[in-house]
Amino acid sequence: MDMTSSQTNAARQHPHIPLDELRAQVAACRQCPLCEGRTQTVFGVGNPEARVLIVGEAPGKNEDLQGEPFVGAAGKYLNELLAIAGLARDEVFIANVLKCRPPSNRDPRPEEIQACTPFLREQTRTIDPEFIVTLGNFATKFILKTDVGITRLHGTLQRAGRFKVFPIFHPAAALYDGKKREALENDFATLGELLSAPDGRAATASSSS
Ligand code: URA
Repeated sequence: MDMTSSQTNAARQHPHIPLDELRAQVAACRQCPLCEGRTQTVFGVGNPEARVLIVGEAPGKNEDLQGEPFVGAAGKYLNELLAIAGLARDEVFIANVLKCRPPSNRDPRPEEIQACTPFLREQTRTIDPEFIVTLGNFATKFILKTDVGITRLHGTLQRAGRFKVFPIFHPAAALYDGKKREALENDFATLGELLSAPDGRAATASSSS
């Protein structure tokens, strides 16, 4: 295959595993006990060259049954939120911190996050997005390596290595909480501004490194 020198340099700087290979690794994973209860793994879905990677927490019941992230009520709402930012669902890539459903939708455990996140790390390298939108505390704490909670961080532009990171409340948390709903919708509007700003930095979003 013919490669331009800039493509060759990029491949050298950021070697990556093809998404199909990663998907097969995830499907075969038995690194933690969550594999016992799953119907199937939920690898992620969307544009493999997305500018925006959305990271949620873990599959729920519907996601476990269908093998796709964010297909339940929170997923329907996520689609509406993406539209506020001017994004279509198939334009972004959507993945989770965990690829298997925790029983009764309980919180992910530290050992599960440790076992599963090498997959998310490789997905991020391969997709190489400009923005990572972290939904809720688990995704935000993992991507930013921070203990600062989502209530303080949401709606502020952050950085993790070469990635711009934009933390937002989890859509499920806002389904029955009007205040969070307003914050979520404002944050997705800000994301839209960030995406259309020439340098990816909207005046309304504060930034830290
Ligand atoms: N919540 C998540 O964090 N991820 C999903 O895929 C569905 C609900």
